[in-house]
Amino acid sequence: MEQMIQTRSNADKSDDSGSYSLEDLDLEGPSLPGEVIVKKSVENLIDLLAAEIVVQATLCVRKFGTFHLALSGGSTPLPLYERLMYDPNCRNLPWAHTHLWIVDERCVPFDDERSNFQMINETIVIHSGIPPEQVHPIAAMSQNAEVEYEAQLRELLAQREAGEDRLDFVLLGMGSDGHTASLFPSHEAINERVKIVRAIEADNVDPPQRITMTLPLINSAREIAILVTGESKAPMIERIASGHESMDELPIKGVIPTNGSLKWYLDAGACGYAQ
Ligand code: 6PG
Repeated sequence: MEQMIQTRSNADKSDDSGSYSLEDLDLEGPSLPGEVIVKKSVENLIDLLAAEIVVQATLCVRKFGTFHLALSGGSTPLPLYERLMYDPNCRNLPWAHTHLWIVDERCVPFDDERSNFQMINETIVIHSGIPPEQVHPIAAMSQNAEVEYEAQLRELLAQREAGEDRLDFVLLGMGSDGHTASLFPSHEAINERVKIVRAIEADNVDPPQRITMTLPLINSAREIAILVTGESKAPMIERIASGHESMDELPIKGVIPTNGSLKWYLDAGACGYAQ
């Protein structure tokens, strides 16, 4: 990873127009499990990821009649969600046949600004024309939130034939401590093998109570995308690439598809390139 941390000359820097530039082709990515896609700018990275979601949605609707998409919260995916709404190239996303799930939720009311669903609702749901019955927020304030969400997932996914009864596309983020979804370092929920949704309480996060998809559900997905941008995430990407720590220490290392694909979408900052 050392060779990645280098300062690039001004001549290498792309303009801000969002257009592809040749130097994007030269960016070397870290060695991570799965395919690693690196773009210099977040803008170009998001172009690719948005296009991939549209392609996967179209394929799944053609094949199964539905597309099951699970989205994460946090701040990183916000420009992607906005792009899905305003970019004419994304207009073909078949929202009418899409089921929208939430990877994890903070146990706060939906009108709390920390609610992941609030962000996804405001950026996507109200603009997309997706039928309301195909939107599946986590009722995180309910006593039985984990049981209810698991039952909802199992019921709808079971409408597909065996083997295809899984999420089609899971978008994950990564915290600078290596957490993903609401699976935090050293938390026993990382090792959950039976439940596909868990209620957890974590230390030092706000709010500490969360409802989260677990690794068995995430790893069974047809396609998993991990979107990581910004210099603050570079040290963690380097730790993952160096390969010595366990998934208990770095939960994102537990993301290993059982019968699907894993793609990392990284910008130059997350790879340690000087900006
Ligand atoms: C959440 C997430 C979480 C997130 C990471 C990265 O609810 O916070 O789903 O797993 O993806 O914490 O968050 P940022 O994108 O804000 O860095």
